[in-house]
Amino acid sequence: MIPRAAGKFATAAAWLALFALFACAIPSRAQSQRVAATPPMGWNSWNHFAAKVDDATIRAQADAMVSTGMRDAGYVYVNIDDTWEGQRDAQGFIHPNSKFPDMKALAGYVHSKGLKLGIYSSPGPKTCAGYEGSYGHEQQDAETYASWGIDYLKYDLCSLHDRMEQAGSPEAAHQIMVDAYVKMRDALRRTGRPIVYSFCQYGFDAVWRWGAQAGANLWRTTGDIKDNYGRIAEIGFGQAGLAKFAGPGHWNDPDMLEVGNGGMTTEEYRTHMSLWAILAAPLLAGNDLTRMTPQALALLTNREVIAIDQDPAGKQGDRFSAEGPMEIWVRPLADGSKAVGLFNRQDHPLDMQADFHALGFPGSVRVRDVWRAKDLGRMSAPYNVRVPGHGVVLLRVSSFR
Ligand code: GLA
Repeated sequence: MIPRAAGKFATAAAWLALFALFACAIPSRAQSQRVAATPPMGWNSWNHFAAKVDDATIRAQADAMVSTGMRDAGYVYVNIDDTWEGQRDAQGFIHPNSKFPDMKALAGYVHSKGLKLGIYSSPGPKTCAGYEGSYGHEQQDAETYASWGIDYLKYDLCSLHDRMEQAGSPEAAHQIMVDAYVKMRDALRRTGRPIVYSFCQYGFDAVWRWGAQAGANLWRTTGDIKDNYGRIAEIGFGQAGLAKFAGPGHWNDPDMLEVGNGGMTTEEYRTHMSLWAILAAPLLAGNDLTRMTPQALALLTNREVIAIDQDPAGKQGDRFSAEGPMEIWVRPLADGSKAVGLFNRQDHPLDMQADFHALGFPGSVRVRDVWRAKDLGRMSAPYNVRVPGHGVVLLRVSSFR
C-alpha cells in the first residue's frame, strides 16, 4: 500500500513526467521562436568568395566582424556556403575537404569571438557546386553539424530538383521537396541544438505558404542575387505581397547582401539596405569584411537602419504605392512609428512626395530622415523631397503627440 503522502508524491511525479514529455515535444516550436526571433544577421561566404573559401578565410572574416564593429552592430552568424564538403567515411559520416582541416576547432574559434558558425548542404545527393549533399544521410549530417558546434544550416535544393522532375506530377514533385525539408528539420531537432534552418529553393511552389510549417526560420523567395541595381531592384521590389507570411522565427529571404562588393554605387547600395530593412530581410553581408571601404561599413552598420530591420514587432513592410519609377514602401514598427521608403527606380533624380495622411497618420507627424540622421521636425503637410537616381529617402515617421 502506498502511504497517502507518497501517493501524492507519486501523482506529482507523474505530472512532472507528463510535463517533461510535453517539454520535450515543444522544442520544435520554441526552438524556431528562440532562434531568429528577428531576421538573422551575419555574413556568408558565397557572394564574394564562392569556391575560394577555406578555414583561414572564415577566421579572417570572424576577426574582421569584431574589429570593424559589425558584431557590435548585430551581425552574428559567420556562414560557410558551398564547397566545404569532403567525402563520407565507411559509416557514412561526412568530413570536410582539405580546405577545412578541423571544423570543430573552427567553430570553437568563431564562438570565442562571440559569433556563431553556419554551414551549407543540400537535400539532394549533390550540392549546387557538385559537392556531397545530405541525401540519405540527413540524421548523420545533423548530428555531425551539432557535434562540430554549428548554429545555422542553409539547405539548398540543388540536385533534389532532378529527382523532383522524375516524379511524374507537380504534386508528387512538391511532396518530394517538402518531405526532404521536413526530414532535415526533424533531424536537426533531434540533435537538441538550436540551429537556424534556412531554406534555399528559390521560392518554388510559393514556399512562403508552407516554409514555416516545414520548419524554416527563413526561406529564399527568389533565384540568386547579383551585384547590380537591376537585379536587386527586381528581387527587392518583387517582394510585394509577401509581408503577411513573415514574422518572428520565420522570414522571407530575398537573398544575401551585395553591399561592398563593388558593382553598385553607394546610392544603389543604400537602396539595397533600405529595401531589405523594410522587408524585414535577413542581413547577411556578402562582401570581404577585411577590405571594406568606410562607405560600405557605414551602410552595413547604420544603427537606425538595422533597428528598422530588427524591429521587435517583426512585421514585414510592403509596397504602399507605385507610380512609374516612384515606389513608396512602408513598414509598421513596434513603437507605432512607420519606416517609409521613397524609392526612385529611374537613373536620374525625381521629386517625390510623402503624404502622411494617406500613409495613415490622422494628425501632424514627427519625421526623421534616417540616412541623414536628421530630425526634420513636426509636419502637417505632405513632404516633398528630391530622390537621387536609383536612390532612396528613408524616413521614420511617428504621430506628433
Ligand atoms: C545556389 C544558391 C546560392 C549559393 C550557391 C552555392 O545557387 O542559391 O546562394 O548557395 O548555390 O553553390
